[in-house]
Amino acid sequence: MYINSIILENFRNYKDQTINLNENINIIYGNNAQGKTNIIEAVFLCAYGKSFRAKKDSDLIKFDEKIARVEVSYKKTDREGKIKGEIEDKKTFYINGVKQSKISDILGKINVVIFTPDDIEIIKDGPQRRRKFLDMLISSLRPNYIHLLNTYNKTLEQRNNYLKQIKIEGKPASMLDIWDEQLAEYSYKIFEYRKYFVEKISEKIDVFHNLITKSGKEDIKIKYISNSKDQKSFLENLRKTREVDIKRMYTATGVHRDDFIIYINGKPVSIFGSQGQQRTAILTLKLCELDIVKEEINDTPILLLDDFMSELDEVRRKSFLENIKGSQVIITCTDPIELDTDFSEYFVDNGICKMI
Ligand SMILES: Nc1ncnc2c1ncn2[C@@H]1O[C@H](COP(=O)(O)OP(=O)(O)O)[C@@H](O)[C@H]1O
Ligand SMILES: [Mg+2]
Repeated sequence: MYINSIILENFRNYKDQTINLNENINIIYGNNAQGKTNIIEAVFLCAYGKSFRAKKDSDLIKFDEKIARVEVSYKKTDREGKIKGEIEDKKTFYINGVKQSKISDILGKINVVIFTPDDIEIIKDGPQRRRKFLDMLISSLRPNYIHLLNTYNKTLEQRNNYLKQIKIEGKPASMLDIWDEQLAEYSYKIFEYRKYFVEKISEKIDVFHNLITKSGKEDIKIKYISNSKDQKSFLENLRKTREVDIKRMYTATGVHRDDFIIYINGKPVSIFGSQGQQRTAILTLKLCELDIVKEEINDTPILLLDDFMSELDEVRRKSFLENIKGSQVIITCTDPIELDTDFSEYFVDNGICKMI
């Protein structure tokens, strides 16, 4: 699939901007803080319904303005479409002009895979960042997933509140049975989705790692970590930790504690990997993501490369470019990059984007 055009209205530092894209490679140049990433952010917003970096949606509205609009027109093999987002006090999305009641309704319409230097956080940061990576991937491919996740989080919050009421107000602990059964049920469903996708990654991780390192000397593995393995054990674990949970007023087990670990030669790369190994591992993981999306949608997703090419050395850059052939790519960078194929170039200066 590919994007034909992006329209930005009072979005970040853009007043009124239309950007027409080429089906293949689009390179957006500009100095720092001119608005390159803002374009990537706008596309991402129309794909996922939220920004990958804004703390508040209102940050997306141009200073001193009240309403921001973004419209992305795309083409898939069998149809064309338009996703429009409006950010005011609240966020509203439209698909082909039709207002959507839930933001999650737009998930999966525009398929993007983003590569940024911050991806390394997936390896270096805590489990929350890795759960986010998995959850974003799954929700873009399985529309029900985000709903399930939201229901789980709501139930978890209710259980945690009730834990407080038991400890502080002396409410009966037996009432927890209801929350436990619900949580165990949702936990198990989320677990199944995550397990499936980590297994998919696991099937590919070797191949992509070899493509990048070209050595075949290192052994790479990914392992999904969850504190339960079936519906029964989710429930059993909740019961087992009940006393501790009441004391701490917090639910200690469940998929909100999940994680995954990438190993190189049997050792967690986050702890023992060199910087180079960590970078290779993250690139491998993202290429697995790309391949999974490709397979699932039976089409090529759009690649958003935000300041990413500068991250790669000559060898990695080459194998990376080989692997993304056929996809539409939007690249942002400060320095010119050399490519041996045709591409469209744009220059961004203080919130104005011009084709060059
Ligand atoms: N809500 C906003 N209104 C106006 N300008 C904004 C807003 N949010 C960010 N900016 C401006 O956008 C610029 C950063 O854009 P960004 O796309 O991140 O730059 P870069 O070209 O380095 O990727 C900064 O100049 C910042 O002041
Ligand atoms: Mg940037």
